[in-house]
Amino acid sequence: MNLLNQIDPDKIPKHVAIIMDGNGRWAKQKGLMRVLGHRNGVKAVKQTIDAASELGVEVLTLYAFSTENWSRPKTEVKALMNLLVSSLKDELDNFQKKNIRLQTIGQTESLPKKAQKQLREVIELTKNNTSMVLNLALSYGSREEIVNTIKNISKKVVNKQLLIEEIDEKIINNHLYTFTLPDVDFLIRTSGEKRISNFLLWQIAYAEFYFTDVLWPDFRKEDFFKAIVEYQNRERRFGKTSEQIIK
Ligand code: FPP
Repeated sequence: MNLLNQIDPDKIPKHVAIIMDGNGRWAKQKGLMRVLGHRNGVKAVKQTIDAASELGVEVLTLYAFSTENWSRPKTEVKALMNLLVSSLKDELDNFQKKNIRLQTIGQTESLPKKAQKQLREVIELTKNNTSMVLNLALSYGSREEIVNTIKNISKKVVNKQLLIEEIDEKIINNHLYTFTLPDVDFLIRTSGEKRISNFLLWQIAYAEFYFTDVLWPDFRKEDFFKAIVEYQNRERRFGKTSEQIIK
């Protein structure tokens, strides 16, 4: 049965976040170099962007490079950065056609200059697009984000721009890299691993989790739709009882 027919357009998660995992294992299974796993991972990125935008997802966050990924072999890091630059160039037309705005979270100032420049360009050219935000987590680590948030809030307290008593969840939200975005509704991780790996720890407080054995380079539109069908069959209670939700 067509998966699209099973999707309720009124219950699409606003913010979907994805831990794209399994590129290395995909390549190894085929006797290929890891880099080829990443290259094929780009195909999955494209399919996922199109699927999310077709469904009307408002924000799609992709974990493209973590703070921990810097410790991978230099050649792999370089290949990932080159892939990022070439994919951004290739996808710009698609972003414009589909009205997608690019933004990033993470310490993008530590990325190679070429990647920073390409990101700046695409962010600027897509800044007025309104249908979906594609949020790339690059050199991102959630604990680093929280440390950064605490520092910025503390500075305001020291400078008397903020009282300690005024610090609440909203103030914290407003100082995270994701300050313009809604909380994550749905978190997907591919490749069978069931970990959060320092991703959006604050923002996933009430997210539904979905784990699939599919390796990221094999992830296709249908896999995304299948995940959304499962999301829509879950009951999100936010701490309430079933009866309170049904009312
Ligand atoms: C995890 O697989 C994947 C990554 C660390 C990088 C994800 C990057 C891409 C899909 C390509 C470039 C991204 C964009 C946005 C154009 P892994 O290498 O950890 O796999 P393994 O656990 O099997 O070794």
